[in-house]
Amino acid sequence: PLIRLEDYRPSDWLIDTVDLDVSLHPQKTRVRALLALRPNPEGQPGAPLKLDGDELVLKSLAIDGKPLDASVYTVTPQALTIPAPPAHDFTLTIETELDPSANTKLMGLYRSSKVYCTQCEADGFRRITYFLDRPDVMSVYTVRLEAAKAEAPVLLSNGNLVAAAELPGGDRHFAVWHDPHPKPAYLFALVGGALDHVRQDYVTADGHKVELAVYVEPGKADRAGWALDSLVRCMRWDEQVFGRNYDLDMFNVVAVSDFNMGAMENKGLNIFNDKYVLADPQTATDGDYASIEAIIAHEYFHNWTGNRITCRDWFQLCLKEGLTVFRDQEFSADERSRPVKRIADVRTLRSTQFSEDAGPLAHPVRPRAYKEINNFYTPTVYEKGAEVIRMLKVLIGDDAFKRGMDLYFERCDGTAATIEEFLGCFAEASGQNLDHFARWYEQAGTPTIVASGRYDAAAKRYTLDLAQSTPPTPGQTEKQPVVLPIKLGLVGAKGDLPLKTTSNAYAGDGLVVLDQPSLSVTFEDVAEAPIPSLMRGFSAPARLDLDLSDADLLRLFSADSDSFNRWQSLQSVATRVLVAAGKPGADADVLAATADKLGEALRSFLKADGLSDPAFAAQVLRLPAPADIAREIGGDVDPDAIFAAHRKLSTAIGTALLGELPGLRGALAASGAYRPDAASAGRRALRNELLGLAALAAPTEAADLCEEQFVAGDNLTDRLAALAAMTLIPGERREALIARFAKSYAGEPLVLDKWLMAQALIAEPGTLERVKTLMQHPAFSLGNPNRVRALIGGFAANLTQFNRADGAGYDFVADIVVALDKTNPQVASRLLGSFKSWRMLEPGRKRLAREALSTVAALPNLSRDVADIAERALA
Ligand code: ARG
Ligand code: ZN
Repeated sequence: PLIRLEDYRPSDWLIDTVDLDVSLHPQKTRVRALLALRPNPEGQPGAPLKLDGDELVLKSLAIDGKPLDASVYTVTPQALTIPAPPAHDFTLTIETELDPSANTKLMGLYRSSKVYCTQCEADGFRRITYFLDRPDVMSVYTVRLEAAKAEAPVLLSNGNLVAAAELPGGDRHFAVWHDPHPKPAYLFALVGGALDHVRQDYVTADGHKVELAVYVEPGKADRAGWALDSLVRCMRWDEQVFGRNYDLDMFNVVAVSDFNMGAMENKGLNIFNDKYVLADPQTATDGDYASIEAIIAHEYFHNWTGNRITCRDWFQLCLKEGLTVFRDQEFSADERSRPVKRIADVRTLRSTQFSEDAGPLAHPVRPRAYKEINNFYTPTVYEKGAEVIRMLKVLIGDDAFKRGMDLYFERCDGTAATIEEFLGCFAEASGQNLDHFARWYEQAGTPTIVASGRYDAAAKRYTLDLAQSTPPTPGQTEKQPVVLPIKLGLVGAKGDLPLKTTSNAYAGDGLVVLDQPSLSVTFEDVAEAPIPSLMRGFSAPARLDLDLSDADLLRLFSADSDSFNRWQSLQSVATRVLVAAGKPGADADVLAATADKLGEALRSFLKADGLSDPAFAAQVLRLPAPADIAREIGGDVDPDAIFAAHRKLSTAIGTALLGELPGLRGALAASGAYRPDAASAGRRALRNELLGLAALAAPTEAADLCEEQFVAGDNLTDRLAALAAMTLIPGERREALIARFAKSYAGEPLVLDKWLMAQALIAEPGTLERVKTLMQHPAFSLGNPNRVRALIGGFAANLTQFNRADGAGYDFVADIVVALDKTNPQVASRLLGSFKSWRMLEPGRKRLAREALSTVAALPNLSRDVADIAERALA
């Protein structure tokens, strides 16, 4: 059924308290739930009680302690209905029995390598007991857990531990947890298992003592330190920057090895995919250290933006996700390099969200309707949702933004809120009308800003013409103008020129607001012909169409005061030439000429100040990916032609830099033991970026370097970079290093995931066979989401091989989606999302991709998850 935003109405019943008694058993877990029900004054009086379920088995049912006669209720695995419940407060006792070991969907209560754990967002709690499983029903939970001591010496739930003891006989024990904060069911969690932990005491800024702990599989406690350290840092940051203190006596993080997503913000008991917890120099890369820091922060920040203030309904998902992504991005920016973080985030936004917006799965930041909510945990809700918050801050200014956040925390604390309530706080705090701005939540699609400038030398006047448009998206053919904050500067020979204008669109401080289809801004007293630097810091999630010459862009690269636009300027030069070269009938000379210009610019940049900020330099060296070029071309895409042009340009740049390579790599080499900090990581990033270019420009010499670096490397970052560079060099030495890598990391599944992925990404015709062979490797398993994402997800991200001209890539991925759908629909539907860009392909591939999608769509008994993606992708 289609669920619509406009159909929202409050629940007829509320549940004030939940007392859960869970007796853990691998196949027969018993759950007794005691619910205190009360008619909702805002609901329909005398309404029936309809509780949600999902694959549940009811064992007993009682009202106010009295067993219920079967004639007064109906029950199926999906619902428990009492047509005529008491017209007043009453308690309902529900007993269910579950099989956590058989739960391969990884929603509700399941077992992951012998650890009991839960995932209840968005609608997993109904797989544990019958419930009003909707986020606006908030309850105080008390949870008693019981288990065999040998199997589950650790028993955790939300809130604070209030009792624990052995049971008579000594084999079993129990623990009671109480969470005083009312919460929706999706934030419920429990964990039981044999786990090691690291711990630390923390005192909040407002003087509350908190016991922090990170729980991991036995023997892995020495890999939990970074997560704990990140937790302490982000807790302090949230106090300092957002004025938010933690609010329980305990905060626990648990890492499990089978998890559908990244992590989950359950109140006081965050559960993580172990990929985002475990780190030591030998088994985690610099990128892993950074994502662990970011995701630990993300889940912790949800304690206020998500838990204390939750969502009224799932249409408001961006209320917590967009805002919390914004908060974690800001934390990482403060902990590391702000410009480099911004560049990395924009790369992700463009590759994941812009591509989503450009295809059949496009939807607004706040969708209006859904069939399966789990399919809306998307880059649009998360990443574009964060961009909307960032724009709001730019538009109303830092001070008003801070006042708006404070007002939101004060006014909405303890409630299940909406986007309207959120925006209302900022309208009030800033005195600005945000009705037009709110369109960002309703309208899908990536706007394009067309800009052009004219300089009148005699009048010393510079006029900037700006226009916006948004292409149609599914279900939204007519688009309205949105509010686009455009941060800008006019760059002269000696840097930024003063901005003087009487235009209403100019908000001061280098900010022009384009909120109409088009407008012009005239700047006065402009002493010389400037180069416009627009969208500084990527001030809006939009495409910019501004026709600057290569020479002007190269000037911006060296002269712009905005680091983001310095980076962007070279990306723009490369994008333009690759877009041209990736189309049929391209002129090879143009590519060669641009390659010379880029090579020279990069060479002098690296010599002059490449070493002053290596992390930034690494970003500068990394060209837009072939998939970015495909998206820019937008239609009739030939992945092979784009890839060939990309290879040519990268190889030419590598050749131009070859002379500098040994010197630079030498200067960047580490002294001393591995440290994960941003500066050290930046040096490794640049050094390894150079290795990748060398692999294209001088393969034989580079193969030597890869082997040396693999042997000498004392950390996974450098060893994996050696493997990745070697994958660019076909031949026996590559195969030997691949084999050697697997041997070095046998028994390290998270490292072998990277090994699987590196091979899945090889842009050669043999890759499909290689991937099929790897599916038989002991390191692979279709049952583990991380393994699937690494190998099959990696292959689906391989532009040329997934999009093979013979369609074999599509058929392979479609077959796996179908197989996986039977055990884990969420992972299957995510994988099917790899088809999201099929409509932009040339006719042959397009037809084959459509056929593969149609074959999936036509199958009987598909999950709602997969059926929804298949239908929308084909519509
Ligand atoms: N709230 C989690 C986070 O972003 C994501 C959980 C989504 N899980 C799901 N099955 N849809 O931090
Ligand atoms: Zn989140």
